[in-house]
Amino acid sequence: MALIAILAGDGIGPEVTAEARRVLEALDLGLTFEEAKVGGAAYEAAGHPLPPETLAVAERADALLFGAVGDPRFDNLERAHRPEQAILGLRKAFGLFANLRPARLFEGLEGASSLRPDIARRIDMVIVRELTGDVYFGAKGRGTTEAGLREGHDLMRYDEEEVARIARVGFETAMRRRRRLLSVDKANVLETSQLWRDVVIEVAEDYPEVVLDHMYVDNCAMQLVRDPGQFDVILTGNLFGDILSDQASMCAGSIGMLPSAALGATGKGLYEPIHGSAPDIAGQGKANPCAAILSSAMMLRHSLGMTEAADRIDAAVAGAIREGARTGDLGGSLSTRAMADAILDRL
Ligand code: NAI
Ligand code: MG
Repeated sequence: MALIAILAGDGIGPEVTAEARRVLEALDLGLTFEEAKVGGAAYEAAGHPLPPETLAVAERADALLFGAVGDPRFDNLERAHRPEQAILGLRKAFGLFANLRPARLFEGLEGASSLRPDIARRIDMVIVRELTGDVYFGAKGRGTTEAGLREGHDLMRYDEEEVARIARVGFETAMRRRRRLLSVDKANVLETSQLWRDVVIEVAEDYPEVVLDHMYVDNCAMQLVRDPGQFDVILTGNLFGDILSDQASMCAGSIGMLPSAALGATGKGLYEPIHGSAPDIAGQGKANPCAAILSSAMMLRHSLGMTEAADRIDAAVAGAIREGARTGDLGGSLSTRAMADAILDRL
């Protein structure tokens, strides 16, 4: 029997994860749940955003369902105690190196996209972003040049194993979809990108059914706005993926609709909506629970092998949206609970 750790966190985190749990329970999958505090809520209770008790629950669990962390009351704490550190700590503790961000425009939400409806309608892609390497984790520093100018540097670096393992996640993702993988890099100017491209081409030999293409990141940014419907699975490094995934999510409409996963070498993954704790609407029952509910579907798919149940959740969300169920962020007036009820009705 699979154990799910629910790390609800701050702000709207508890409101939306409660609805995701309700959906999972309705499916009667024999899951058990354990809740633990994380973020500002954990700092308040235990003096640390990711206390040992929470790590122990996460350790025991087969998968982690995460809400959001961040609380304006703790914005002035030193960095190690800020709520946002909890996510970094969990990624590190469980070696979560792959970030999956599906971006899809649900039928009926064409008006919510930043793009023209006829262009937006075709968006249905997944960005597979490397999460634990690249320029964010290379040697960094500040200094002074010989001419006395202030200087700063961050080393962009990958080794072949780091590239190969994220490439495999990309190919596996493509195998579950339309069997097309687009690797995005800047191989015309960066050594890191040339290594990236070489290794991706090597890994491709293990996936003969997948059609592999390459694109430079600047072109990809342009194409995402021009015609995002052309993309299926995009594989890219940490820096490029950070930027492209945020860009793709805005093309796809409301932040309240988009789930994500962070996966590692073991089956244990962390699943969370891409949105934050939304302090401006927290505690008012206004938050859109769809992103959290869709995250729970990703959890069933990627950590628990429950594909059919995952499909049912995805279809129920799409059905509710198609038939007009809307929270405030989508221009409607349903409460968090009522939105989840509309989804439960269609399970
Ligand atoms: P945010 O995503 O929390 O909110 C941005 C805007 O979107 C707000 O107007 C909010 O009301 C709205 N919104 C977000 N989720 C929504 C939902 N489910 N339904 C309806 N409306 C929704 O981003 P913001 O304001 O930049 O950050 C707030 C806090 O969240 C900060 O402390 C930040 O550090 C944290 N944060 C945490 C993340 C995480 O836990 N992974 C990710 C992003 C931000
Ligand atoms: Mg970002």
